[in-house]
Parts: sequence; C-alpha cells; structure tokens
Amino acid sequence: MHSVDYALLNRQLEALLDTRDWLTNSAQTCAFIYHTLEELNWVGVYLQRQPNQLSLGPFQGKPACHPIPFNKGVCGAAARLQATQRVDDVHAIADHIACDADSRSELVVPIVIDGHLWGVLDLDSPQHARFSQEDQSGIEALVATFIRQTDLPFFINQ
Ligand code: SME
Repeated sequence: MHSVDYALLNRQLEALLDTRDWLTNSAQTCAFIYHTLEELNWVGVYLQRQPNQLSLGPFQGKPACHPIPFNKGVCGAAARLQATQRVDDVHAIADHIACDADSRSELVVPIVIDGHLWGVLDLDSPQHARFSQEDQSGIEALVATFIRQTDLPFFINQ
C-alpha cells in the first residue's frame, strides 16, 4: 500500500542534514519525514533533558503532550526499553497518552548513542496499522543517519 523507497529517502536526508547541530537537524528530520510520508498526523522528537522523563522537542503537527515520564505511553516504553515500539492500534494500549484523538497507530524509534538514550522519534498516524515492518526498518535507518550526522549533547549525566 505504502511502497516507499527508503534508500532514496536516506540519501535525501543525508544531503538535507548539512550541519551537525542537533536542534537544526532534528527539526529538519521531522519536517522531512512529515512531508514525505503519507498518512501521518504528527512527527516529532522527545528529548531526555531530565532523568526518566521525555521533553517535547522539534515537531510537525498539533501541539503535543509534555512531559512524558518513562513509565507512560508508547514513547515512554521506547525510552525505557531502548527498543522501537510499533503499535497498530493505540486504543488497545492501556497507558497510551492520547495527545490527539485522531491518532490510531504509532511508531517510536529510540535515539541511542553508546547505550545511552538521547531521545525518541515519534510518528503518529490516523490510519489503523499504518506502519509496516518495512516502515520500521526504513525509519530506523533514517534515525541512524540522523545520529551519524549530528552532534548529540547529553542534557543529563548518564
Ligand atoms: N501517543 C504518545 C504520546 C506522544 S504523542 O502522540 C505526540 C505515547 O503514548 O507515547
């Protein structure tokens, strides 16, 4: 249904990220994904600026939830477990944080450097089961490019 050339997107993102600044690059990455992929209603970065808590960073879409503790929601799970979370139906997740009632499926990829969590990239869709395994691998590759091309300062001691 959504056949996307993620290898091409990766090369485009590599070219787009022409600084090493985390704020510029995270804003550009969110805007690039939001305007390139179909059926998304929110794309953003949450940063670990305090222990065990995510703070809202650059994003595209409606104003969103802030802060998110590690023990809540899909973003919290991705941060706590340092593992990608792909949820077909967020309504089925008991502690899902509903920032926007329109969101149905979600993909959250942790941004981890040397085993330490810097933040997460969160994609939301109004469509049930929007994200396939192929989307997951593709977005994880885009996150790897973001990490490789960006200086990511840690805001807390880890
Ligand atoms: N739904 C997320 C919260 C973040 S927003 O959707 C922007 C969650 O449960 O972690």
